[in-house]
Amino acid sequence: MRLLVVSILHLYICAHTVLWAQIQTVPVYKDHEIPVEERITDLLSEMTLEEKVWQLTQYTLGINNNENNIEKTVQEVPAEIGSLIYFEMGPELRNRVQHQAIENSRLGIPILFGCDVIHGFRTIYPIPLGQACSWNPELVEKACAVAAQEAKMSGVDWTFSPMIDVARDGRWGRVAEGYGEDPLTNAVFGVASVRGYQGNSLSDKNKIAACLKHYIGYGASEGGRDYVYTEVSRQTMWDTYIPPYEAGIKAGAATVMSAFNNINGIPATVNKYTLVEVLKKRWKHLGFVVSDWDAVGQLVNQGVAESRKEAARMAFTAGVEMNMRDNCYRDYLPELVKEGKISLNQIDDAVRRVLRIKFELGLFEHPYTPTVTEDKRYLLPESKLVAMKLAEESIVLLKNKKNMLPLFKQKKIALIGPVAKNKGCLLGSWSAHGKSSDVTSIYEALMLEFENKIQLMYAFGCDFEGEDVLSFTEALNIAKQADIILLCLGEKQRWSGENASRSTIALPRIQEQLALELKKVGKPIVLILSNGRPLDLSRLEPLSDAILEIWQPGINGAQALAGILSGRINPSGKLSITFPYSVGQIPIYYNRRKAARWDQGFYMDITSEPLFPFGYGLSYTEFKYGAIIPSATTVKRGEKLLIEVCVTNTGKCDGAETVHWFISDPYCSVTRPVKELKYFEKQFIRVGETKTYRFEVDLERDLGFVDETGKRFLETGEYYILVGDQQVKVELVD
Ligand code: BGC
Repeated sequence: MRLLVVSILHLYICAHTVLWAQIQTVPVYKDHEIPVEERITDLLSEMTLEEKVWQLTQYTLGINNNENNIEKTVQEVPAEIGSLIYFEMGPELRNRVQHQAIENSRLGIPILFGCDVIHGFRTIYPIPLGQACSWNPELVEKACAVAAQEAKMSGVDWTFSPMIDVARDGRWGRVAEGYGEDPLTNAVFGVASVRGYQGNSLSDKNKIAACLKHYIGYGASEGGRDYVYTEVSRQTMWDTYIPPYEAGIKAGAATVMSAFNNINGIPATVNKYTLVEVLKKRWKHLGFVVSDWDAVGQLVNQGVAESRKEAARMAFTAGVEMNMRDNCYRDYLPELVKEGKISLNQIDDAVRRVLRIKFELGLFEHPYTPTVTEDKRYLLPESKLVAMKLAEESIVLLKNKKNMLPLFKQKKIALIGPVAKNKGCLLGSWSAHGKSSDVTSIYEALMLEFENKIQLMYAFGCDFEGEDVLSFTEALNIAKQADIILLCLGEKQRWSGENASRSTIALPRIQEQLALELKKVGKPIVLILSNGRPLDLSRLEPLSDAILEIWQPGINGAQALAGILSGRINPSGKLSITFPYSVGQIPIYYNRRKAARWDQGFYMDITSEPLFPFGYGLSYTEFKYGAIIPSATTVKRGEKLLIEVCVTNTGKCDGAETVHWFISDPYCSVTRPVKELKYFEKQFIRVGETKTYRFEVDLERDLGFVDETGKRFLETGEYYILVGDQQVKVELVD
């Protein structure tokens, strides 16, 4: 009996000791009540050099449908890895790999899972170039919030988006991925995306970390070729390429991706000026920089590093903390530290940045993704509505001769062209886990929209490219029977996006030829275009009575188009990028610097004007602008200036109108563009109603300029505020 009492007592003491020991051994870095920086310091103090370097390393994971080798796939991922690009659509694989990281690594540091969620995860909405044509950043924020929710519930913590590279060359396939040619537009929509993805806090439910890319000047690719040299003067860097990044960093973007391009001789991946001086020192960014795909190893190809080891040293010391995929850091950083070429402090700073984002995302507390059925994860009805609304607002009516649209009277429609039944091209490039089966085709959408109201005849017409004219005959036959032709032309799904440069931005000849043959039938032609870049429409435009640019509008884009064709929706999109008259005009953009003679320069063979300028887009109604009224015509530094313009809907249907506010500074110590967008606002105006648009001018921000060091100046003198074809002069005095 005594023995039993002693044993029970013994057990009791042991259990308590174990419990006490457990309490004692919960490390500081695992205690969520302790401030993040202290947790990081504690964790760093526990880590070996190799473990630190793993945190700076990113592999890929996924696209493995074979159950038999999933275990192998999981085991191939080192438990200590910092990050993975996650190609899977569900959380299962993530959780298995994450379990391995938490349970089999010495310190149990969670992995950060990244993915290219560019314009939706499964609910695909319009490409960014189209999104910007909506001039509705609130809607873009909502769309990005949908993308974040779907991605997060599928095992993704981090998106490589937004792309905010100002892009002015339609030959460059990546124009599709950004918000067009203007710095402010990229800044505003970039900020909207960051807000949509990240919300108020990275640890909030269904939020993911954003990544501003590609830092910097990638859009200046020579000749529109991808991955090549870029010549970006410091002045242009500061006044054109940097503003969207500065805005994105201010909005709290967690990470940045360095670009592939070589900037003026120093590749972006090793550019200490942009990465250290500007991003880390001036802007004090506390998140981390990830290299682009294999970009560290590619420094050897670019001719700046002699070996992968040297590439690792250069990229790391230039401020790229995480190495995407090519393993230069994994293979050489430990050695470089031992050789004294990189200090431990530098390693610690880089690891601290990566860990900071992991802590802020709450990954240490919630490393796993709850498994939720697909119907609760994707394509929720309210998410599809956001995608639909964004598509409606992104579509741009470029031409509407004799108010051909909407379709009122026509009873027989001939729907023709390679885009009419194609679903992939509506999804567009970088469509993550979007599926063709989620997409409504133009044909299907028109059948639904006009059910029992019209007779819809369909013919393929021709393929996107090639020389086969066999299907022309059927197309011509239905065109003859119809009241109107809806001709759906454009680009294949992957004709834009990464590594999708084209030497011409006209559609392939076969498509133009089809249009030419159809024109001979003598019926009105409505040209419907789906593409990821501005097009050369110099031959197609004269053949068309109306033109609708629908971009790559996502899963519900065709319904949006159908609504516009029927008149249920009044189009309100305006171009975020100039459509040149022909490819020879490139680069052509609205905010060019002034010329010595001839405003746009002069071509002997073609017009110097673009076919459709930046900001162009028609409506089914008419908007009449009142005079621009400034609160003062003379202002002093520090004073406020308010400018108003009234817009009346004088047409026959309700509609939304975007007012673009530009400024122009005729004389300045650094020559300035002919005009610069400073603010925009979109309002819905009912028939007969008048709405007031207000631009609160911040003199420093809106009239000032930066020099080639990024320093801001505001010079006295005259300025013009421009809206539409009106302008008002304001004088700044001392
Ligand atoms: C692209 C990036 C992308 C990355 C990861 C690169 O090739 O340039 O935009 O985020 O791949 O997929």
